Amino acid sequence: MAERVKLAYRESGEGETILLIHGFCGNKDYWKEVEARLSPSHHVVVLDMRGHGETKAVEPGYSIHDMAEDVFAFIEEKGLQNIFLFGHSMGGYITLDLAKHHPAILGGYGPIHSTAYPDSEEAKKNRSAGVSKVSQQGVDLFVKELVPKLVSERTRKTEKDVIKKLFEIGIETNPKGVIGALMAMRNREDLTHVWENDRLPVLLVAGGQDEVISPEKTFTVNGSHVTKALIEEAGHMGIFETPDEVSRAIASFVDENSKK
Ligand code: MLT
Repeated sequence: MAERVKLAYRESGEGETILLIHGFCGNKDYWKEVEARLSPSHHVVVLDMRGHGETKAVEPGYSIHDMAEDVFAFIEEKGLQNIFLFGHSMGGYITLDLAKHHPAILGGYGPIHSTAYPDSEEAKKNRSAGVSKVSQQGVDLFVKELVPKLVSERTRKTEKDVIKKLFEIGIETNPKGVIGALMAMRNREDLTHVWENDRLPVLLVAGGQDEVISPEKTFTVNGSHVTKALIEEAGHMGIFETPDEVSRAIASFVDENSKK
C-alpha cells in the first residue's frame, strides 16, 4: 500500500463541515479570506497537502489518488461525516478523486477554478519542464514566474499585496512537494465521469479572467445536481481576488444541499 501522509490542518466554527483543499504551491492560508467568511456559520477545516505548508514532503512518484487518500485518512481519523468538500484547482483534482472513490462520506463537493479533464500533451511537456526547472534552479524562481499567471490583469496591476502573499506562500513549498505535485498532475486521469454522476450535488466555480483554467474547461457538465457560479472579474485566484463571491457560492450551495 502507498504511504499515507498525516496532514496538517486548522479548524474553526460550528455547523455543517466544510473541508477545503488548496491548489498547487499553496497551503491552508490560501483559504484564509474564505474561512473568515464561512466559519461564523459553519465548521471549516483547511488542510495542507503533502509537501505543502506544514505537511511533510515525501519522495515524488505519487498520484492525485494518493493525495486524495491522505485526505480520506484524515477524514476517518477525525470521524468527520457528511462533508462538503471544496478544492482549488489541483485541490479540485483531489476532490474529484475523493468523490470517485469515497462518495458516501460527502454531502456534496466543488472543484473551484478546476477541471475534470486530464492534461493535454502540451501541458504534460510543460509539467516535465517544470520538474527540471525546480530540480535545477529551486522553488523561488519557479514560483516567481508562476504567480503573475494566476491572477487577472486587474489584480496584477492593482493588487500588489495579493501577488506578494501568493509568492510568500508559494516559496514555502518544499521542492519535493512542487515536483511531486507536478508529476501527479501530469499523470492524472480524466475524471469527467465523476461529476457526470448525479448521485452527489456539485458546485463549479470559475473565474471569467482565469488564464490557467478557463470557464469552458470547468463548466463541462450539466444536470439538476450541478450548480455553476461564474465570477466574471476573478482570475484563477477567486479565493483571494473575490472572496465574498466565492464564499457566498460555497455557503449557499452547502446550506441548500444540507437541507436535503
Ligand atoms: C493550481 O493552481 O493548483 C494549478 O494551477 C493547477 C494546474 O496547474 O493544473
